[in-house]
Amino acid sequence: MRQALAAVVTALAVVLAGTPANAAVHSAAGPAPGSAGLGDSYFPDYGNGGYDVSHYDVRLRYWPDTDRLAGTTTILARATQDLSRFEFDFALSVTSVRVNGAPASYAREGAHKLVVTPARPVTDGQPLTVVVQYADTPSAVKVNGATAWARAADGAVAVGEPEIAWWWFPSNDHPRDKATFDVSVLVPDGTQVVSNGVMPAPAHRELPGWSRWNWRSVKPMATYLAFLAIGHYEIRTDVSVSGQPVVTAYSQNLGEYADAAHAAVERTSEVVDWESGLFGPYPFEARGGVVAPPGTIGFALEDQTRPVYSSKFWQGGANVYVVVHENAHQWFGDSVSVADWRNIWLNEGFASYAEWLWSEAQGEGTAQELFDYSYAAHPADDPFWQVKPGDPGARDPFDRAVYTRGAMALHQLRLAVGDEVFLRILRGWTENHRYGNATIEQFEEFAQGVSGKNLGALFATWLFTPGRPTLGATVTRAP
Ligand code: ARG
Ligand code: ZN
Repeated sequence: MRQALAAVVTALAVVLAGTPANAAVHSAAGPAPGSAGLGDSYFPDYGNGGYDVSHYDVRLRYWPDTDRLAGTTTILARATQDLSRFEFDFALSVTSVRVNGAPASYAREGAHKLVVTPARPVTDGQPLTVVVQYADTPSAVKVNGATAWARAADGAVAVGEPEIAWWWFPSNDHPRDKATFDVSVLVPDGTQVVSNGVMPAPAHRELPGWSRWNWRSVKPMATYLAFLAIGHYEIRTDVSVSGQPVVTAYSQNLGEYADAAHAAVERTSEVVDWESGLFGPYPFEARGGVVAPPGTIGFALEDQTRPVYSSKFWQGGANVYVVVHENAHQWFGDSVSVADWRNIWLNEGFASYAEWLWSEAQGEGTAQELFDYSYAAHPADDPFWQVKPGDPGARDPFDRAVYTRGAMALHQLRLAVGDEVFLRILRGWTENHRYGNATIEQFEEFAQGVSGKNLGALFATWLFTPGRPTLGATVTRAP
């Protein structure tokens, strides 16, 4: 499910990225290779051109003792041009590829591209059913010198942003191409598997000593938001006040962090209900959270319907802010996704500001106090102010400034337009772009339209200009 994009811009970016396979511009009729890369400003070779995925069916078997992962992913897609061949982002070893029933030839290109050449060219608009079989040891597969597949004593965790999918399923790995998912994993009895969405059927014994777990996501999902947690987990299932399935899962190896983790993650439904009151209807079919075993991930990620948390968030005791943050991303990031990774402020600035709003609602400190604190905590000569939240750069899109200065920018917007208009902007934004993609420029235009104020200077100052902004009026009435 791809958002429309300017083919010219993509083609140009691909040429600039210097991928030789795509340097040829086919103006004459006839099938051409789908581009490797969608021309993202930060990650030009992520994702692929020439087709649009609607569904991934990921069916795997996993051996925790050896980290062997084997299985089949079936990709349902539609060609968006005549294609001689096309690519997926994938790093594991492939054993066969079929396209619409016929064996296809395939080759690896670089560390994370799988080039598929169908027996016969594909025509624009044609439905594609691509079956990729593979087997590998994901923890040993490096892309740019590292793997994001995190092995644990009892299993593994596949959680990462923006790179994770290519260590467990072949995909069109860019948020612009969202799809629904079925994830099915066969694991040894006594091992649990948690993923996004709902369980269409309970886990069941399938082979002597092996059980299958099924998870289904029925709303469009960006590839980086699909996750796997395999291991020994305490799984709790419940139903929210609004009637939604709630699934929380806790590694059995949390030790002294276990109680504080439960105290925070068991508040997920309360947090989501509170956020729904601010941001509009919750966009997805289920809720929950997963606390990963120590030693796997050192961050939290807003995996769709079910954020995954490092246990480190509970080292210092209770902390519900990370739950507020990751669930705010369900609206800002998961439902409304970046059109380009350069727009990461649309995710992190908003999720961070949700924490300030929670603090204010809990009587733990107002957003103004938190703004004042953050402003004072970073003196004018602090390198913090050199990062532009609206364009932090590919080297570190997750720089703290995107979060903190990003939240400060939203506080300035709130001050400029007033609380009532500010909330109208947030709700209208999540409604207009639900399940889609968006840019910062679109947000600025929308905020200006709703408020009737000229916000150009405010956005330019807080998002796009290095240096510590001086506090004062940057807002005028729209002409
Ligand atoms: N989006 C995540 C968050 O909510 C950040 C993920 C950063 N990625 C990483 N590999 N550390 O803050
Ligand atoms: Zn975040």
